Amino acid sequence: MKKENVEFKRSKLILDKDYQIGKVDKRLFGSFIEHLGRAVYEGIYEPDHPLADKDGFRKDVIELVKELNVPIVRYPGGNFVSGYNWEDGIGPREKRARRLDLAWHSTETNQVGINEFVEWTKKVNSSVMLSINLGTRGIDDARNIVEYCNHPSGSYWSDLRISHGYKQPHNIKVWCLGNEMDGPWQIGHKTAYEYGRIANEAAKVMKWVDPSIEVVAAGSSGWHMPTFGEWESTVLDLAYENIDYVSLHAYYGNQENDTPNFVAKSLDMENFIRSVVSACDYVKGKKHSSKTINLSFDEWNVWFHSHEEDKKVEPWSVAPHLLEDIYDFEDALLVGSMLITLLRHADRIKIAALAQLVNVIAPIMTVKGGKSWKQTIFYPFKHASNYGRGTVLNTIVDSPKYDSKDFSDVPVLDSTAVFEEESGNITIFAVNRDQKNDLLLEGDLRGFDGKYKIIDHIIMQNDDPKASNTVNNPDNVVPKSAKVNDVTVKDGKFSLPIPKFSWNVIRIEKLNPTFQ
Ligand code: AHR
Repeated sequence: MKKENVEFKRSKLILDKDYQIGKVDKRLFGSFIEHLGRAVYEGIYEPDHPLADKDGFRKDVIELVKELNVPIVRYPGGNFVSGYNWEDGIGPREKRARRLDLAWHSTETNQVGINEFVEWTKKVNSSVMLSINLGTRGIDDARNIVEYCNHPSGSYWSDLRISHGYKQPHNIKVWCLGNEMDGPWQIGHKTAYEYGRIANEAAKVMKWVDPSIEVVAAGSSGWHMPTFGEWESTVLDLAYENIDYVSLHAYYGNQENDTPNFVAKSLDMENFIRSVVSACDYVKGKKHSSKTINLSFDEWNVWFHSHEEDKKVEPWSVAPHLLEDIYDFEDALLVGSMLITLLRHADRIKIAALAQLVNVIAPIMTVKGGKSWKQTIFYPFKHASNYGRGTVLNTIVDSPKYDSKDFSDVPVLDSTAVFEEESGNITIFAVNRDQKNDLLLEGDLRGFDGKYKIIDHIIMQNDDPKASNTVNNPDNVVPKSAKVNDVTVKDGKFSLPIPKFSWNVIRIEKLNPTFQ
């Protein structure tokens, strides 16, 4: 089949209603705000901004976060948390200490702390996933912070919270036991044994204070760490009964300017996930346990554009421009594939966090005193978060393949589908990794009763992989809806063109029987 001078390659997608991977936990579409650069100050909080609300939070940013539909936000770090005294950020603002943040060589003013952040998450219809400091602090601090946040009243820490104006407990349900403790760059870096012991004891006492909480043990900070695997098995061995999830972190870059290889990097994420699932199940077997440890992929994104710029930042600045990657079109495609990868593992990944949310390696950018705008990666995240709720189907994809520097047999079409039980609607997410050829997607819906109609085909496509949005040109790379009126679904079969090098969201609606 030909379209002008472009060769159409064929690909097949089979969806069977009964072949299901698992229900999507909405927390898969979480994100992350760290006290780093301009994420908090000048990002979500800017009391002097014309659009600041009564609490100093930017209303334009609140609206953008709501558009992304983020159910949970990890806070306050990241590397920052390993030197953080959470007590610095509570009580009267004028008395709060300015501290040196050794993780990012910045000055932390502590004008936003746990209480303010909880209030902000309410404004964006979200909740908090709170990290505790297991770098410079330990078990005592771990139990106190849970008591301050979650205990109703009648104890030192809960009454202190009430005296700060927060009568109702915050009821924070998910807690991270430190951050990247396997990394030598971490304040209070530990061996797997040292970390496993402290994580187990911290989790134990935190759950004694509030048995309803869930806790995430810090897994490897990346699967290329020399201690990967051994770290997971040791930590799980020591803390299995007291933890609920193990974390994964992954960032990718295109330093070598090799686009076909870059857009295939979600395959690395795929292998990482499979390895951590194996580690969890290995320890489960070894312990003859009936408990399954699930995964929290609580830092993932593209991160490399800002590396050189960050070296020039003045040490000990307040809210410096750090990690301000400007994302291009190919970054959005990899982010799309990473979202597809997370969805494909919805049976084991219950929590994930796009790192991060505002200004710092983020989909949302702000100008101090000025506008906010959307990066290219805003769109795939928004689509997946809004249309990716339901049950992920075990999608069979038959696609042409290619080899790149680091990967062989890379499917040109990367795709998955989510089925909404209640409405009967189906959403297909697809990336065409080929920079030259459009694909003809031949869809086959099996085991779906009734009639279906394609109601929307959102496409994000650009011939220039390096095209990006900026504050003055915020709509340079945006998705568009293709014409779908003439695409029919007959006996569950349909075909659609998937443009070269594109992100696609195909929404299929189950027709009401009276209109069939
Ligand atoms: O998200 C930026 C940093 O990346 C986090 O602080 C750290 O956990 C990771 O290395």
